[in-house]
Amino acid sequence: MSQDLLRSLGVSDDARFVHDPSPDARPESGVVVSRNPATGKVIGGARLDDAAAYERVVSEAAAAFKKWRDVPAPIRGNIVRAIGDEFRKHKENLGKLIALEMGKIKAEGVGEVQETVDIADYAVGLSRQLPGLTIPSERPGHRMFEQWVPLGVVGVITAFNFPNAVWGWNAMLAAVCGDITIWKPSLLTPLTSIATERIAERVAAEMGHPGVFRMVMGTDDAVGERLVADKRVALISATGSCRMGKRVGQVVAARVGRCLLELGGNNAVIVHEDADLDLALRAVVFAAVGTAGQRCTTTRRLICHKKIADQFLNRLVGAYKSVRIGDPLAEGTLVGPLVNERAVEGFLGAVEAAKSQGGTVLVGGKRAAISGLNGHFVEPTIVKAPANNRLPIAQDETFAPILYVFTYSDLDEAIALQNGVDQGLSSAIFTEGMRSAERFLSPAGSGSDCGIANVNVGTSGAEIGGAFGGEKETGGGRESGSDSWKAYMRRQTCTVNYGGRFELAQGIRFE
Ligand code: UN1
Repeated sequence: MSQDLLRSLGVSDDARFVHDPSPDARPESGVVVSRNPATGKVIGGARLDDAAAYERVVSEAAAAFKKWRDVPAPIRGNIVRAIGDEFRKHKENLGKLIALEMGKIKAEGVGEVQETVDIADYAVGLSRQLPGLTIPSERPGHRMFEQWVPLGVVGVITAFNFPNAVWGWNAMLAAVCGDITIWKPSLLTPLTSIATERIAERVAAEMGHPGVFRMVMGTDDAVGERLVADKRVALISATGSCRMGKRVGQVVAARVGRCLLELGGNNAVIVHEDADLDLALRAVVFAAVGTAGQRCTTTRRLICHKKIADQFLNRLVGAYKSVRIGDPLAEGTLVGPLVNERAVEGFLGAVEAAKSQGGTVLVGGKRAAISGLNGHFVEPTIVKAPANNRLPIAQDETFAPILYVFTYSDLDEAIALQNGVDQGLSSAIFTEGMRSAERFLSPAGSGSDCGIANVNVGTSGAEIGGAFGGEKETGGGRESGSDSWKAYMRRQTCTVNYGGRFELAQGIRFE
């Protein structure tokens, strides 16, 4: 199956593709091996770029930018439209490849490609807008306005968990904004990245614009560090762990470059005493166990009102027990494997830490044995914090399906718990009450401190139309919808004197 899939997406014809790599090849040797996390079997491999290849790509990208920025934005939009259409065509197969290589279930893999299609549509609309303001000038005979101009070469660093859509959010916007993207994908998902990049680059080249979508695939030493430190790269948009983002932020700040950081989350759902528990149950299960807990928006903490805690937890544990774990490509599977053995170790370590800190495992906590599959499966897990709500491990983002449960009796206490972590990506409250909902969303900022705050909607599965990103150690960047496009352009404030008289602002006379 995997050979047909790779052929249908053009991966096997790609110069980077290695058909039968040595299973123990290390990236330092120049080849990365891609494995199916459900079986541990090798799917294929990819040749990596070295420093010289990186250098070539960046200088070509800088040259391509000079041409691309001159293409009118609506024409750039036409190319993005055609790319979106091509992703529509390959949605099913690319979704399968994502499931095969990353381990999320097929429905989520296909949903991820849909996210790229959606952002392409969004970008096409934007290509006829990219609006600047006109601002009244205080000087007679003067006009003041701002315009948005293309920024340059944009470096896009993505994680394994969304190997297609996070590139899409960045690349589709950057393209209509007149920028060239250089993508550095995760080495855990090289084949999905090749497939993705090929689709975009082939369509753009066929329409007369080769070189708009570039990729450098390689180790941090050979490629990552160079990209981040490179003055020719105007913006680094990085998605990944807080640790990685802090490093990227420092290096980019040292060269006074621009950064867009979308880092870790530690998202909580508050279930209030008046919540619709059926609704809350479905939303929490999807957000906590979906993608096997490997989304930055995964619900990692559940903050339950004491009045409904027992009842809700009973139902939740029941739901966890019925969730089918297994082959991500099989019908009916809801939870696939973790991406690799290191992730399983991280999961087991966090469960042990939780227990030693007084947490009680209500369900899960172990590796999951799936017959016929030798992959990295774990049981979706719920850990109840001790009565004093003290559970230090819950401060960490462990990329696995572990849900830590806290209880409260007063909404302010719940909001303080929800905000009491270093990350600030996504948050949600389930309540039927207007007052508690509005308290959570307080426009004074005393409610949720996250970039995303939902009422009766879970923490994950955001639509592309909104700005996506978070506060605090999540990095402050915003990608995808709303006015996130502005990060990919340069704002220029322009004043034109059409009256012909020498006029100074602030009423200064200089005769
Ligand atoms: C991520 O995990 O990095 O909101 C992105 C969501 C998806 C995107 C997640 N639309 O869950």
